[in-house]
Amino acid sequence: MPTLRRAVQGFASALLAASTVTALAHSAAAADTLGSAAAGTGRYFGTAVAAGHLGESDYVNTLDREFSAVTPENEMKWDATEPTRGTFTFGAADQIVSHAQSKGMKIRGHTLVWHSQLPSWVSGLGAADLRTAMDNHITQVMKHYKGKIYAWDVVNEAFQDGSSGARRSSPFQDKLGDGFIEEAFRTARAADPDAKLCYNDYNTDGVNAKSNAVYAMVKDFKARGVPIDCVGFQSHFNSASPVPSDYRANLQRFADLGVDVQITELDIEGSGTAQATNYSNVVKACLAVTRCTGITVWGVTDKYSWRSSGTPLLFDSAYAKKPAYDAVLAALGGTSGGGDNGGGGNTGAACTVAFARTADWNDGYNGQVTVTAGSAPISGWTVTLTFPAGQKVTALWNGSASWDGTGTVMTVRPTYNGNLAAGASTSFGFTAAKNGTSGTPTVGTCTAS
Ligand code: G3I
Repeated sequence: MPTLRRAVQGFASALLAASTVTALAHSAAAADTLGSAAAGTGRYFGTAVAAGHLGESDYVNTLDREFSAVTPENEMKWDATEPTRGTFTFGAADQIVSHAQSKGMKIRGHTLVWHSQLPSWVSGLGAADLRTAMDNHITQVMKHYKGKIYAWDVVNEAFQDGSSGARRSSPFQDKLGDGFIEEAFRTARAADPDAKLCYNDYNTDGVNAKSNAVYAMVKDFKARGVPIDCVGFQSHFNSASPVPSDYRANLQRFADLGVDVQITELDIEGSGTAQATNYSNVVKACLAVTRCTGITVWGVTDKYSWRSSGTPLLFDSAYAKKPAYDAVLAALGGTSGGGDNGGGGNTGAACTVAFARTADWNDGYNGQVTVTAGSAPISGWTVTLTFPAGQKVTALWNGSASWDGTGTVMTVRPTYNGNLAAGASTSFGFTAAKNGTSGTPTVGTCTAS
């Protein structure tokens, strides 16, 4: 009986060891970029993209590494896609779409009906003609991208700021009346039934007169069967327009109407810890709302932000990760893999690695790996250990592991301990089950960023 119990215990601990290893592998492999960390929560993490920057390697490398969705920043707007009546120009938008598709990214279409970036030929039309032109524009653009767009901002910014809750004056509102939004959504559904159809606006991020007006419209649409699937909250924040304290509650009340909610143009001016905390709060608000399906930041880098002087994005103008990046990744449940894109200019980054076997017993041992920065400070490191076949790592501390397909090569990156001053050291440790093989792992070279 005691023998049987030992056998059962041994089996149970082997299972536990196996599941620990699997958990380590999963959490690390799935979570050292924004896109992969967000995917772990069932969401996308996107960015606005400008076609004009796709030739810049730091831009594209950062985009491809970190993001799982894109929104063309200007290329799908009316002035870009139909500058002259009936002449459709999709070149720049197509470039973004084909890049995104080649990387398996989702695409948000932005935007079909908006008072801004509207060619003057549209604003000059009479009512009947304007209705025809609007429906034709929606139909032609959506058909061109049919099957490729996850969600369309069908109508953008149709409500006034301030306390009135009224519609904004625009050629569409002024000539077609309140019904133009409903008409746009019905036309959009017919053009591409598989795309999610969103209403998108700013200053609707908290509960206020403007968001109340949008809320009433969405409620009415749902009650009457007007096709609407999602509401976009742009979320452009700065000190004059901070993240509202009822942000999550506002997202939730829209979700409760039976639509998805998305954070569509997030940027938060500032720097350092304050900016990081704001970003983290926004991400946590989305995660707390089941129907918040994804977050898009309004640009890859501060260098090209529409509010560049306010440094509102996650990568600085040299493509280095900012504290806000780390905060977002952490809020998404990710761990920093260290390392920006080379454009971050951590030149001279180097590290060395030393291994020690710190304890040994019958069927297991502990290893300690010490990473030491070279003559320059580093912000991230990677060490690879190849274990003798059969050995299993059952615990790891002060590091985050991912595994290759054979289950023998463990790549370790920092958790909290990626930043090291020149010459400074940090250690991570592990416990390995010998499983009949007592050898020591081969320690690869240390890579720093
Ligand atoms: O491409 C031309 C260039 O050829 C010309 O030399 C230059 C001179 O001004 O202008 C360039 O176009 C600019 C374009 O961005 C591309 O950079 C336009 O002037 C400029 O008005 C345009 O600004 C865009 C803005 O929408 C227009 O309303 C921003 O990039 C874009 O980020 C911004 O995005 C909007 C969302 O669509 C809706 N929500 C608000 C958000 C921020 O304003």
